Amino acid sequence: MTPRHLPDETATIALAGELARSAPARAVVYLQGDLGAGKSTLARAWLRALGVTGTVRSPTYTLVERYPLAAGGEALHLDLYRIGDAGELEFLGLDDSDAVLWLVEWPERGTGGLPAPDLHVRLAVAGTGREATLESASEAGLAWLEALGVGAQLRPTPEPNP
Ligand SMILES: Nc1ncnc2c1ncn2[C@@H]1O[C@H](COP(=O)(O)OP(=O)(O)OP(=O)(O)O)[C@@H](O)[C@H]1O
Ligand SMILES: [Mg+2]
Repeated sequence: MTPRHLPDETATIALAGELARSAPARAVVYLQGDLGAGKSTLARAWLRALGVTGTVRSPTYTLVERYPLAAGGEALHLDLYRIGDAGELEFLGLDDSDAVLWLVEWPERGTGGLPAPDLHVRLAVAGTGREATLESASEAGLAWLEALGVGAQLRPTPEPNP
């Protein structure tokens, strides 16, 4: 999609809410961007939008934090910045059968040990704000973005206007 400008943290939180409300029943989301791009801000707001009320800890050292969801299943929030190699993911014992949502920071460091993504959210610093680019990576991801109203730009051939 065309990048969306997020002028302040509130805009990042609003985007997280939109994504949380429109997500398919199971979703794997790769959150990409440099240090400080706003990945954790987005993940925390997403979890809050799903009703998580307790502390949302950064999984910087634990690599993963798990959150049971009121709607059933659990959300996994991963931050793989400090992972040694992708093999370490096996030792986390990530039983993904209950996972309905994966929010993965630094997914490129876990290549081979992660489920395939439905959606890439790329964040970048833009002036004093941020810029978000959403890109689908599965059929479910494509339908998701279409439901959000940003799918049209993902089609290889744009549909003619009626
Ligand atoms: N749209 C925005 N505009 C300006 N600042 C923002 C925006 N979104 C988040 N921030 C701020 O960016 C800072 C860093 O955010 P955050 O910790 O979420 O980044 P991160 O991508 O998770 O970094 P890391 O890779 O170190 O984990 C925070 O102070 C946050 O408030
Ligand atoms: Mg972070």
